[in-house]
Amino acid sequence: MDIERAKILRPVAEPRIVERIYSDDQHARLLGVVKQNGPWPLILAHHFKNAEELIATTSGMIPEGVEPKLEMFLSPVFRGFLSYDKVCLYPEIQDCFYAPRMLDLVRAYWGAKYAEPDGMLFNIQGPCAGGGSPHVDATRFRGITLENTPVWLMNTMVKTGLFERWQARKAQVIAWYYKGRIGGGFTYWPDGPHERPKQLRAPMWGRAAVVENEMMFHTAEPCGPADQRMPAGLGFDSLMGPDPERDGAWQITTRGEVIQRIPEEEFRFLVHWGASVYRDLDELKTAIDHTDDLSHDRIFEILLADLATRGVPCETPSDPMNDRRFIALLNDVYGIDRPLHFPPEPEERLAG
Ligand SMILES: [Fe+2]
Repeated sequence: MDIERAKILRPVAEPRIVERIYSDDQHARLLGVVKQNGPWPLILAHHFKNAEELIATTSGMIPEGVEPKLEMFLSPVFRGFLSYDKVCLYPEIQDCFYAPRMLDLVRAYWGAKYAEPDGMLFNIQGPCAGGGSPHVDATRFRGITLENTPVWLMNTMVKTGLFERWQARKAQVIAWYYKGRIGGGFTYWPDGPHERPKQLRAPMWGRAAVVENEMMFHTAEPCGPADQRMPAGLGFDSLMGPDPERDGAWQITTRGEVIQRIPEEEFRFLVHWGASVYRDLDELKTAIDHTDDLSHDRIFEILLADLATRGVPCETPSDPMNDRRFIALLNDVYGIDRPLHFPPEPEERLAG
């Protein structure tokens, strides 16, 4: 691993841990929204239209000669959105979204003057392997967003370290509720993917981390009994919702058929609240008034100039966004590997 390059992926500050981020009443209302408005689709189902598209997009990652099967890509973690962009979708939890305490936390984390909530979602799950996929969350830049730019390019831009001036300042407050006996924590690499990870350990009940997940590798720790982490019959269209027969319990269904029942103590609930942060009035105005936006031309100008400085030979591509050789070159020069060190597999916690 190129240690100097790996150092780019470090958050603005060490994550801060906060206990009891939501009151019991807020937690009950958040969970109420999840219970009353489900069942909820897999995280993956939010990103891909169907199983074929998922396999086509990700099968490059599996070794040659291995036939891609849907199960290799499925993870039984389900998601719903509590806001649409900056608008809270459920009035009964609007105090959790437009939350002064959260805004204070992210402003303090960044040492910034201004912040606004810009997204809220939840993940729900039972037992899950989940720990094998550390990642950084996708981000955006002034003038460059998901609406006009492919994710690979924005991810590459982050890893070059050349576009920090334009990168959105973001922070999240992520909260967990999990009482299970095995794993279920949060693993993160605050000092970079070349250093050892840290872990927030379960059981957690309203413990939260203030983070910048766009600049820090992170992943869920595996949780629950190992033999229950991949329910038979899990499909792209599986759903998770309350078990109508057991109060507090949950179930996963595939096309109407129950494939797994999850007791309350194996239920893991994550609430993700995100904000945009502006260090000062200048930065806020520059963003809102679009006085310093990036364009695609400017991005490639900057990249080509940097390649020249590094002495990397590269002809100016006529269509850089779709030039496979150019994209591969960017990956070679700026790629940052996944983390070097992983925590051991979680063991069962003794009762009491
Ligand atoms: Fe993430």
